[in-house]
Amino acid sequence: MPAVLRAARPGDYPEIIGLLQHAGLPVDDLSAARFGWFVVVADAQGKLLAAGATEPFGSCGLVRSLAVSEPARGAGLGRAVLRNLEKRALDRGISSLYLLTTGQSAFFEEHGYQRVTREAIPEEVRASRQFSAICPASATSLLKRLTLPMVKS
Ligand SMILES: CC(C)(COP(=O)(O)OP(=O)(O)OC[C@H]1O[C@@H](n2cnc3c(N)ncnc32)[C@H](O)[C@@H]1OP(=O)(O)O)[C@@H](O)C(=O)NCCC(=O)NCCS
Repeated sequence: MPAVLRAARPGDYPEIIGLLQHAGLPVDDLSAARFGWFVVVADAQGKLLAAGATEPFGSCGLVRSLAVSEPARGAGLGRAVLRNLEKRALDRGISSLYLLTTGQSAFFEEHGYQRVTREAIPEEVRASRQFSAICPASATSLLKRLTLPMVKS
């Protein structure tokens, strides 16, 4: 059986935290109740290879906690998780995705995210713990406006 990309389940929580810690990403504000924010990629044995989340704020979302296990990097899993998060966000009526990153802005810019100032970010997103307390002020803020595919008439 090939790897599968799926919504996270409650039992995935410890493995997600391990994956994020290994990738050097903050986990302080993640509790088991937050598993619903996540999608994961699991290998044929069920071991998690990648995870990523969208923290919802009404019509905005904060993409966060995107990590691929080191041996699985460079094979397209990061892109697959990001695309899936964007699709799920659109399905939930989210039209703007924000994110903060310290070292991976090139990856996100390649996927359509554009740099914005922190001040351009809605107050409710800025007030989140990820923004206000966990990520350093030097982190780059990025935004992607989500649009539905154009339908030909
Ligand atoms: C960033 C990360 C998620 C990328 O995952 P990945 O599975 O290795 O990336 P992919 O294989 O899907 O890469 C897709 C494309 O992005 C490119 N890419 C990957 N990492 C990149 C980087 N750091 N900078 C620029 N481009 C990058 C790849 O070359 C590929 O392009 P191509 O299709 O033209 O070859 C992964 O490196 C990671 O887990 N890093 C540590 C955690 C982290 O910093 N997360 C982001 C903060 S939330």
